[in-house]
Parts: sequence; C-alpha cells; structure tokens
Amino acid sequence: MSSVRDYIRTIPDFPHEGIMFRDVTTLFADARGFRMAVDQLVQPFSGVRFDKVVGLEARGFILGGAVAHQLSAGFVPVRKKGKLPGAVISESYTLEYGTAEVELHDDAISAGERILLVDDLLATGGTAEAGIKLIERLGGEVIGCAFVIDLPDLGGRKRLEDLGMNVQALCA
Ligand code: PRP
Ligand code: ADE
Repeated sequence: MSSVRDYIRTIPDFPHEGIMFRDVTTLFADARGFRMAVDQLVQPFSGVRFDKVVGLEARGFILGGAVAHQLSAGFVPVRKKGKLPGAVISESYTLEYGTAEVELHDDAISAGERILLVDDLLATGGTAEAGIKLIERLGGEVIGCAFVIDLPDLGGRKRLEDLGMNVQALCA
C-alpha cells in the first residue's frame, strides 16, 4: 500500500444500480493511510493561513476535523437539511444520485475569513458548489478546495475551477 488510492475500495451498485461507490472507510480505518491522506490534503497549502476548515457532511467531517487540527484552524460543518440547531442559511443542489439541501449556521463564518473546503470526493461538484455559495453568502473567502478523490468524468473539477476555485485532489 504505497498510495492513498490503494486504501480506497469501490463498491458496485451502491446506493443505486450503476453507481460505482468509492468507499473511503477502508482508508480512514488504516493508521498509515489516514495520516497519508491528511498530510497530502494540507501539503498544497503549505505556508497558507486559514481561519477555518469547512467540512461537507458526512465524510468531510472526518477529514476536515483532522485537517483543521493540522492547520491550527477552526472547523465548521456544512450539514444536510434539518441537522443544525441554530439559525441557518440553505442551498439546494443536485447529486450524481438525487437532490439535496445543505445548511450552514449563519454565524459560523465572519466576513473576510479564509476558508479551506474539505470533502472525501468530488463528483458533479454540486455539493461543493453549494458549500462554496453558503460560505460566500457569509462573506468568507474560499482559498482552496481539497478532496481525496476526483471523478473527472462527472465534471466537478471544471465546475469549481469555472467559479475560480483552487481545486486539489489526491487521486482520480
Ligand atoms: C458524497 C460525497 C460528496 C458528494 C459528492 O456524499 O461524500 O459529499 O457525494 O458528489 P457531488 O460532487 O456530485 O455533489 P453523499 O451525498 O453521498 O452524502 P453522505 O456523505 O452524507 O453519504
Ligand atoms: N458521491 C457521488 N458519487 C459518488 C461515488 N461514486 N462514490 C462515493 N461518493 C459519491
């Protein structure tokens, strides 16, 4: 096991027929693999200052918490609708397999704060774009977007780059 990709397994037909689901639980479960992933997620941003890491539910929480600790930054969750207890702002989006709505506490980010967006996987980019919109609505500046996996055929990287984002991914 020499690269992050070696620790990720693909489960066919989950959660729907035809979806090749990239399962990162095997990466997270391995001490060496998890450390490698977190180290590589922060590496492109060496020397860059961040105020907060925003993690996208659900696997972005696991990675984002570790990345925030490594960067000595705060951590802020973007959650699926109805999960956050305080006042929220919301964005709807479409997924590779469905539609959803995500929310951010309306006081979680202050104007001018420098943000690193983190998630396990970039597919269509709908989830990440919704997260970016939420952050920007509060005046945050998304300095970078870091993913473990990019599925380039689904167009997410181009979609985020067209928004002017710095997109980093560890494997395709
Ligand atoms: C997966 C993945 C990303 C998103 C990427 O989460 O963890 O968050 O899909 O897809 P997109 O680029 O097409 O938006 P999922 O929606 O399966 O939710 P979960 O993490 O709560 O299982
Ligand atoms: N989210 C969207 N598409 C996915 C895939 N193929 N594997 C894991 N998570 C996903």
